[in-house]
Amino acid sequence: MHTQAPLDAATVESLLAAAVAAPSIHNTQPWRFRLDPDRQVLEVHSAPERTLPLTDPMHRAQYLSVGAAVFNLRLAAVHLGRRPEVRLLPDRHTPGLLAAVRLTGPLGADDQPSDPGLYEAIARRHTSRMPFTGRPVPEPIVAEMARAAQSADARLHLPDIAGTRRLLRLTAAAEARNRAHPERSTETLTWLTAPGSDVSYGIPVTALGPPDAAGRMPMRDFTSPLPALRRPALFFERHVQLGLLWTPRDQREDWLRAGQALQYVLLTATAHGLRTSLLHQAMEWSDLRAATALPRDKRCHPQLLIRFGYGPDGAGTPRGPVHSVVRPAAPSASE
Ligand SMILES: Cc1cc2nc3c(=O)[nH]c(=O)nc-3n(C[C@H](O)[C@H](O)[C@H](O)COP(=O)(O)O)c2cc1C
Repeated sequence: MHTQAPLDAATVESLLAAAVAAPSIHNTQPWRFRLDPDRQVLEVHSAPERTLPLTDPMHRAQYLSVGAAVFNLRLAAVHLGRRPEVRLLPDRHTPGLLAAVRLTGPLGADDQPSDPGLYEAIARRHTSRMPFTGRPVPEPIVAEMARAAQSADARLHLPDIAGTRRLLRLTAAAEARNRAHPERSTETLTWLTAPGSDVSYGIPVTALGPPDAAGRMPMRDFTSPLPALRRPALFFERHVQLGLLWTPRDQREDWLRAGQALQYVLLTATAHGLRTSLLHQAMEWSDLRAATALPRDKRCHPQLLIRFGYGPDGAGTPRGPVHSVVRPAAPSASE
């Protein structure tokens, strides 16, 4: 790779290492990066070979995942003393180009330094599919998570007990549909990987959690066609703490914003010692997705459910090699 000073190879590698640590649906890591060293721009492209045609036909979850990676890139840039200027969908003739991050120069004296706790949380955050303790998360932390979503142009709705039950019921309905859908179940299963296998994408079975022995928590069953892989059931927390991430509009750009908001919320939670996991099943069926919307807010476009609390850390998941995804920028007719 040839880069011109001052955007040296080590800097680019640090930026990309942070970006790819983002969560992505089924750990598909649906991004590719191209570096234009002359303009000091990192382009974030979609990776069409790593999509979920049945689970995510509109690519909304893919955009959320890429948005999360863009948020990490921004944090890493500031951490390295660079000012990131992000343009979402910068070229309508290149639909696969989802974001361009220009590193405009050193941070000025007036620039806000980002919270170092957030940058450090990038490497510590893992999806935890284990039961949480049920200890209530203090209000100021929850409020900080909601502010994080808002500052990234999304909203985090924190339902009361009845609202939480409703969202879990809708997620359970979606989960039941997914399991009864052989092609979707097979698609999900293809992203599971055996322990110790040398694969850089997908979810190792060691990162899965158990089903809820009480049947209340509709965690995604990645193993439904192969029940032998399923862990023994455990009791999950009775007091489930959920946030519904939503956006006031529902275009491609909003999904990228929602992804940035998602990562901001997850890192804020991680920095405070919380664990998180995601419940996306209801978003995969248009009627159930619509039913999760806030009845009193017409602008509410639900994007994802975030479960949070105190509990065991999640297991690590692999990532594609950082250096192999750096390419010189070049216009591509195929995108
Ligand atoms: C848009 C999106 C949807 C997701 N949906 C689910 C889900 O329904 N169930 C689940 O257990 N994990 C879900 N995840 C978490 C991913 O499986 C996880 O991020 C990925 O395996 C990488 O692992 P990590 O988060 O520990 O880095 C989702 C992640 C994203 C970004």
